[in-house]
Amino acid sequence: MNQNSHFLVYEIQESLPTRFLIFNICLISLTLESDIITRTNSKSSMQAKHKIPFNRPFIAGKELYYIAQTVTFGNMAGDGHFTKSCCELMENRFEVPRVMMTPSCTAALEMCAMLCDLKPGDEVIMPSYTFVSTANAVVLRGARPVFVDIRRDTLNIDEDLIEAAITPNTKAIFPVHYGGVSCEMDTIMTIADKHGLIVAEDAAQGVNSFYKNRALGSIGHLGCYSFHETKNYISGEGGAICINDNQFLDRAEIIRDKGTNRKRFLRGQVDKYSWVDIGSSYVTSEIVSAFLYGQLEQLEEIRLRRKANFNHYHRALKGLEEEGLLRRPIVPDGCESNYHMYYILLPNQGIRDGLMRHLNHHGIMAVFHYVPLHSSPMGLKMGNAEADLPVTEELAVCLLRLPLYFEITDDEQDIVIQAVSSYLMSRSTTTHKVKKAIRI
Ligand SMILES: Cc1ncc(COP(=O)(O)O)c(C=O)c1O
Repeated sequence: MNQNSHFLVYEIQESLPTRFLIFNICLISLTLESDIITRTNSKSSMQAKHKIPFNRPFIAGKELYYIAQTVTFGNMAGDGHFTKSCCELMENRFEVPRVMMTPSCTAALEMCAMLCDLKPGDEVIMPSYTFVSTANAVVLRGARPVFVDIRRDTLNIDEDLIEAAITPNTKAIFPVHYGGVSCEMDTIMTIADKHGLIVAEDAAQGVNSFYKNRALGSIGHLGCYSFHETKNYISGEGGAICINDNQFLDRAEIIRDKGTNRKRFLRGQVDKYSWVDIGSSYVTSEIVSAFLYGQLEQLEEIRLRRKANFNHYHRALKGLEEEGLLRRPIVPDGCESNYHMYYILLPNQGIRDGLMRHLNHHGIMAVFHYVPLHSSPMGLKMGNAEADLPVTEELAVCLLRLPLYFEITDDEQDIVIQAVSSYLMSRSTTTHKVKKAIRI
């Protein structure tokens, strides 16, 4: 039995049906474990191809036990016990006035676009170096993303370039906290106040990260989290929207519940509920929230484990950085990371792609990240071809993300470090040094 099964030993003081259910879940869990072992041994599986995967979903506490409880509590749809528990936990720990669970960060971003009341002709400022969902949310409302270049140190939107991108059509700024490291939020909020803009933080990767002691997602008027299985706190798919400004509260409830005032009805504020606004089905299943709650209860344990994993790479790759063969991530003063990602920047695309192939060949799954949106087929179709984003274009092709997950072992990390070192050292005489190629 591996450590994933430690939920089996929890003291169970439940009714007979609950015990029966939990017993069944234990059996399923054991079957799953042997299935995982079989798949790991099978030469045809991804796991076998990559002895060290890029990401591995994990169980940190009582996730499966809580899922069993959703059935016995008789509430598997939305907004039950576990959804409320997740929201309260995040509201308390991140000092967010109101958190609402959503099926994904994508859904939370779509809610933000509706709450900003975006219409055709409106513009939203964001980095091009982000996931498609940041831009899609805007485009779905008929509005236009306006891409701004990124900073060299954090790869976050360059706050000094934002004001020049503001036009009479600008409605909002959607900053993205890349890799769980904060954007320069004080400057962004000052600009937004000055121009009367709404700030919706894309903190998909920033759950439990901080900027000047304030949780990411809690600083803008709105914030969005992701609990996708590749993130720090997972529920398969999942997300949340942070409502930091009361003016959005009532409408957020309505948009999230298919455009109806059902929540007001449930609170007895109206005698029937009906269709009152646009909206969609943005409520999370209790099963998903139950899993997530098991993870959120281990908020600090998960962060500390990732911190140790991050620092293991960081210490070991210092020498290669000093040699000028790569650049390690930078966390500015005042930012407290959740250690979501460990990326390295290589001197150029050729070396990045060569290293990625080398790692792949040795069973290590390392991956590049975003194709900048302004240069993607959809971005080009939307007339962004002329966007002048030199730092985005330069760094996007040099970035490589190394495997980093909750259960990665020191031995696995050492294999990755050894493979990175041997590849770069073997090329070091012919390589342009990174200090020349990647200015910091
Ligand atoms: C910056 C950013 N925004 C949004 C998303 C979308 O998150 P989700 O998969 O929860 O919809 C992601 C996912 O990776 C992301 O990295």
